[in-house]
Amino acid sequence: MPEGKAVSEMFAGIAGRYDIANHLLSGGIDFYWRRVLTKMVQAFGPSNVVDLATGSGDVAFKLRDRLGAKVAIKGLDFCEPMLDEARRKRANHAAYSDLEFAFGDCMELPLTDNSVDAVTISFGVRNFEDRQKGLKEILRVLRPGGHLFVLEFSQPDRWFRPIYYCYLKYILPLVAAVATGDKSAYDYLAGTIENFPTKEALSEQLKIAGFETVEATGVTFSIIAIHEAAKAE
Ligand SMILES: C[S@@+](CC[C@H](N)C(=O)[O-])C[C@H]1O[C@@H](n2cnc3c(N)ncnc32)[C@H](O)[C@@H]1O
Repeated sequence: MPEGKAVSEMFAGIAGRYDIANHLLSGGIDFYWRRVLTKMVQAFGPSNVVDLATGSGDVAFKLRDRLGAKVAIKGLDFCEPMLDEARRKRANHAAYSDLEFAFGDCMELPLTDNSVDAVTISFGVRNFEDRQKGLKEILRVLRPGGHLFVLEFSQPDRWFRPIYYCYLKYILPLVAAVATGDKSAYDYLAGTIENFPTKEALSEQLKIAGFETVEATGVTFSIIAIHEAAKAE
């Protein structure tokens, strides 16, 4: 698994162009994925949410739009230039002024035990230096009965795989090189996507970490999956 320092430096290098590259490479479907994620969080009905690996903050902003001002929302990330992007965007919207963006490494979260109703993490788990350590750390900070929502790339439906892997290998690096000027960051992206577990395997890893129940939902031919994992009451 990738070393944390190298991951943080890589995101620091593309922070200013991260959003545009994201929207270009996904063809804009990332907006829809965040909508599905935040709807699931809304259905759970938390009174506080921490968005881990928040990056430039788009999940935190969408959570605020959907959950309203009464729900406390905090974004944590270990890459300050990505957090600066989130803070810059927050400054342009009065409705987001109470959102907190702070440094936090998922391997050692700056949060007390049993303190969080819901944790979201979008495109972050794939980058963990030690996946089991990170998942157990999330379990520690969730309150009993709290839920974790993981939005992450998955292994797509079998019929769609040839098209998808062609896209990852030939088109994504080209578009990324033009959009960000850093082809290597997106070679890394393609590699981590190809090697990421299936829905079933990630569900198993969540259970091994100690979550009581896990439900996985494939979205867009299972290019991505959202895992909702519950801590025991
Ligand atoms: C692909 S971006 C995702 C950003 C955002 N969640 C989104 O959906 O657009 C991955 C983010 O995870 C952060 N990250 C990776 N590993 C982390 C860790 N161990 N602790 C905190 N942040 C981490 C990176 O700094 C980066 O901002």
